[in-house]
Amino acid sequence: MMNDWSGLPATYSDVLRRAMDSLFRTFENFSEGTFIVDADARVVWINKRYAARFGFSDPQQAIGRDCEAVIPNSLMREVVMTGKPILLDILETDREPLVVTRLPLKDDVGKTVGAVGFALFDEMKALTPLFSHYSRVQQELIATRQSLAQARRAKYTFASFVGTSAASLEVKRQARRASQVDSPVLLLGETGTGKELLAHAIHGASARATKPLVTVNVAAIPDALLEVEFFGAAAGAYTGADRKGRVGKFELADGGTLFLDEIGDMPLPLQGKLLRVLQDREFEPLGSNRIVRADVRIIAATSADLPALVAEGRFRPDLFYRLNVLTIHAPPLRERQTDIEALAYTILEDLSTQVRGGHFELQDDALRLLCAYDWPGNVRELRNTLERAVMLSDSERIDARALAPFIGPLRGKAAFEPPASVSAEATAATAASNDAPPQQWADAMAAFEKRFICDALRACNGRVTEAATRIGMGRATLYKKIAAYGIDV
Ligand SMILES: Nc1ncnc2c1ncn2[C@@H]1O[C@H](COP(=O)(O)OP(=O)(O)OP(=O)(O)O)[C@@H](O)[C@H]1O
Ligand SMILES: [Mg+2]
Repeated sequence: MMNDWSGLPATYSDVLRRAMDSLFRTFENFSEGTFIVDADARVVWINKRYAARFGFSDPQQAIGRDCEAVIPNSLMREVVMTGKPILLDILETDREPLVVTRLPLKDDVGKTVGAVGFALFDEMKALTPLFSHYSRVQQELIATRQSLAQARRAKYTFASFVGTSAASLEVKRQARRASQVDSPVLLLGETGTGKELLAHAIHGASARATKPLVTVNVAAIPDALLEVEFFGAAAGAYTGADRKGRVGKFELADGGTLFLDEIGDMPLPLQGKLLRVLQDREFEPLGSNRIVRADVRIIAATSADLPALVAEGRFRPDLFYRLNVLTIHAPPLRERQTDIEALAYTILEDLSTQVRGGHFELQDDALRLLCAYDWPGNVRELRNTLERAVMLSDSERIDARALAPFIGPLRGKAAFEPPASVSAEATAATAASNDAPPQQWADAMAAFEKRFICDALRACNGRVTEAATRIGMGRATLYKKIAAYGIDV
């Protein structure tokens, strides 16, 4: 059958104009709101319904005003400035959100002379499933962002590092200086001496404080997963990879600080890769062709003897030199006995609010006992000891007798030279504790803890994170205990 062309308009431009006319009218009729702005994003025309929705009983009152003054959150200015449409968007209003379309209006030479916007749906019922999904995702996103920001903020400041001994003041001085520059920092020191605390404080006092502090505990992640943990992976880059790929910690820390804890445990091949990234400041996520530039400041820490690891060929000397720019040695507690009292009181203060809401005091003999001990686990051990004493003490006044069960053997009898502050009384209390049941109690506690952890791990097939959740313990704490007890996972 032949087409009948006779009723059609004569010229294409006429068709176009008609199309535009009818399109506009159709949209105008079916949309909940329509408005037009000029090249300066000022309202040229607005329909009655839309004007009324935004509080203008007469549309004329809106004419000539900036679009944002009539419709808060309007993006029409962006459309006239870029000349590009925003085909589908959600406009948040003080009532329910609207689905909107924004199109630029062009003149004959293609210059943007204005824009037209349609609010397509006001009756949200038809879109309720979509919108409830959108709002839920939006809420989850906000909550996740907040908790991430919270987690990535520095937990400690320099004020949290308690101690006025010469050694402590020197450490704080060096750490403050380190926070003023951008070169790598290497924190060395025995376990529990406050390296993590210092890393947080340095980041928190640096120019990067508003950006994330991202921690990788090298010892806690299986070697095979470390590279992805550091540099990320493209979607499907390796068997078992997330379908969407994974963003590495380097990229997450962009602009901020990457804290590499237990760096001494890093496998050699990864040490080489890390060194390259530190030199080039760029890397490629696993299985991607994407080069990522990351502006990251490194703080590394270890309780291992790093120079010894270098000598044994287990740590790359070039990486060691690269990291060993600003090196801070966190001194062991036994070398700063004058800090013990202040530390003990800070910890007790903390425990009174956290553990038992009381006001704990240390009797003189208890303090002398604390000063006589070697503290191989340093401040962490001091904290654990006080925590146990507080939990099990009947009185808020903690004396040497109450503490002794929780303190390990004092310095070997031959080596034990009580510091000037240790009186005969404390030594007597200590001696009593050496051969009385309390010593065995401490051992029994440790044995119980080890068995308890082993049971939890077994019940979770060796999955540390799951075991930590099961027994209500922090994952990092559990890893430390596993290492301290030498448990094979
Ligand atoms: N100078 C200090 N003042 C107050 N608290 C401290 C101090 N040093 C350490 N602590 C506390 O002791 C505990 C252990 O500190 P931290 O985790 O920083 O040690 P670390 O050196 O990183 O140990 P590890 O090598 O085992 O990881 C934490 O609870 C920390 O808050
Ligand atoms: Mg640590």
